[in-house]
Amino acid sequence: MRVLIAYGSRWGSAEEIAERLAGFLGEEGVEATVLDVKRIRLWPSLEGYDGVMVGSGVKISKWMGEPLAFLRRKAGELRGRRVALFVSCMSVLVEPENARRDLLEKVAEAAGVEADLMEAFGPVLDVGPGSRMGFLDKKIAQSVMLGLSKEKGLELDAKGRNDLRDWDRIRDFAHRFAESLRE
Ligand SMILES: Cc1cc2nc3c(=O)[nH]c(=O)nc-3n(C[C@H](O)[C@H](O)[C@H](O)COP(=O)(O)O)c2cc1C
Repeated sequence: MRVLIAYGSRWGSAEEIAERLAGFLGEEGVEATVLDVKRIRLWPSLEGYDGVMVGSGVKISKWMGEPLAFLRRKAGELRGRRVALFVSCMSVLVEPENARRDLLEKVAEAAGVEADLMEAFGPVLDVGPGSRMGFLDKKIAQSVMLGLSKEKGLELDAKGRNDLRDWDRIRDFAHRFAESLRE
């Protein structure tokens, strides 16, 4: 079984999820190829892939343009293959149902894609020295963190890296996708 994991990531969270998904799928005997859609020059063929996972980080309630374009462009080829969508976002911690509806179901519908699995995973909010965020994005991340601490009582590092992803859920997502390939 072969799977393509196509992702777009602004600051590295969806990227790391894509890489770890590939590792988890490998443990299940599924060969996964990870593709940063921001770097591609030509749309890849999906020939030879039994399943495709497409994921994105979220900013101002939106997917990145590149994975969204991939979904639209590949909607036809995705039919007849197993498909999973995922996002890394903050809103799943506060309003999980809205996150699923707005960041997954609506996106799939608008792209004309029918997904077998869809999951919103938590964010990385990294305002530390190793962060890929620019000054303004860090400021927004800090205000998001303040809101999360107040609303959810989370203890966050206001000057560091906060990984709020649930890796057990991500492993389970890979497991369920591998199972769906075998059905
Ligand atoms: C400037 C900024 C804007 C963001 N906007 C949203 C948002 O509108 N909704 C949301 O759920 N998360 C939002 N987030 C949280 C990101 O989705 C989260 O950091 C995610 O892990 C980013 O993934 P990426 O690094 O793969 O792009 C925002 C984060 C930043 C820094």
